Amino acid sequence: DQPQWPAYRGYHEYSFAHATMSVRLPTILEKGIADVHLTVNQEYDEDRVKDLVECIHRMEDLLDSLKANDKLRYITDDGAGDVALWNKEIARYFRGKDFMNSPWVFAEAYKYRRLRECFSLSKYWVEYDVFFRQKCDTFARSAEAVFELASRFAAPFSFAEGISDEDKLKTSKLMFRELTQICLWGNSTDLSLLIDMTEEDIKKLQSTGGEHLSATEKNILGNDLDKITDKVASMKGGRIDFVLDNAGFELYCDLVYADWLIQSGICKEIVFHGKKIPWFVSDVTKKDWDWILNSCVYGYLFPEATEEEMDWLRVMGRRWKSYEKEGKFKYQSHPFWCSGFTFWSLTAEAPDLFIELATSDLVIFKGDLNHRKLGYDCHYPYNTPFSQAIGPLASTPGAPPIVSLRTVKSDIVVGIPDGVGEKLDEEEKGWKISGKYAVVLLSEGRPG
Ligand code: F6P
Ligand code: MG
Repeated sequence: DQPQWPAYRGYHEYSFAHATMSVRLPTILEKGIADVHLTVNQEYDEDRVKDLVECIHRMEDLLDSLKANDKLRYITDDGAGDVALWNKEIARYFRGKDFMNSPWVFAEAYKYRRLRECFSLSKYWVEYDVFFRQKCDTFARSAEAVFELASRFAAPFSFAEGISDEDKLKTSKLMFRELTQICLWGNSTDLSLLIDMTEEDIKKLQSTGGEHLSATEKNILGNDLDKITDKVASMKGGRIDFVLDNAGFELYCDLVYADWLIQSGICKEIVFHGKKIPWFVSDVTKKDWDWILNSCVYGYLFPEATEEEMDWLRVMGRRWKSYEKEGKFKYQSHPFWCSGFTFWSLTAEAPDLFIELATSDLVIFKGDLNHRKLGYDCHYPYNTPFSQAIGPLASTPGAPPIVSLRTVKSDIVVGIPDGVGEKLDEEEKGWKISGKYAVVLLSEGRPG
């Protein structure tokens, strides 16, 4: 199955694919190499140092190969368990293709899998994450927005004494709308795009106040928030899945949101889907998940925070950890999420994952990359309905309701009213990569 529209490729100079494949990816890799240099400089054991220097050499080879636009080769069997999935995709569609003429989303994902290979072939550094330092630092620099949310959401949530069911519903709806938008805009802090952010830049991106949110709602170009709110507000004791995007501040927003969904009684279970390997710079791995929970409870990340502020953070962190113990929060990472397949192939290539998602009441996909993969990263007309753009994930019997919460950071745009995209094309150069605009789109799914 594939859509009738062409997928973006690196040689499409009019698209962000070109800048990404030719400039951004090499830069990201160079920064990764610099990170490993730091680690080498702090290592004292000779065997471990030598082993890590070999990882650097493999990274340098990958960088050369990217810059020379080499043909894609098979993934070396590093025993990681996803090699067959990768090589099947390479063999079936992409043999003989190079970085620039294979579909962008595939070539980009392939680079991250090759980066993994640089370490998985080592003896001591298999799990090394070249992006880990950056992910931690950016969260530590997000103090203002972190505490703004903590001040509001640390105290346990309950409905005011004696309010009517009607008012409960109204409150739920209002809070849901607000938290959905907080969770949406949390996606703006993406390290792969914002390589050298200042404190001020971060603040601007993370502003979570009510006024700011209503001002930015007009930037949600395709907006199914009303429908989604009605659907969720009527749920009781349900299950919502989050297909996560970025670690740090975005994950923190996801946790605040999920926490409220549990406390409000809307959900009894939230399943989070993260990545098995370091992915697209800032995506969540299990290590990032553990790190944020432990940092909230035990960390010293915010030296300027008051004791009261740190207490809020600890309260939330402890609550989230207790949800984890009680099975209210579950963390999973299926290898399919870090494969080269788009989600058009999910039902065929990862049927077990599809069955798992199909038991959910709602699956929320976060971020730009997930959106690209949902829509095959192809050049659709802007007014293509979202459920049409995601193909089998909407039309297969048993498909769950799906929401995409995405700030627009790349070319694919669907589900927006006629004329809106065309007007922006004329008036606002770069509107698809600025992260200023967003979509909140719903596919109702299909009963099994
Ligand atoms: O490199 C391009 C890209 O894949 C785009 O999808 C987006 O610009 C970024 O990387 C990842 O964004 P996100 O973290 O929101 O998926
Ligand atoms: Mg990401």
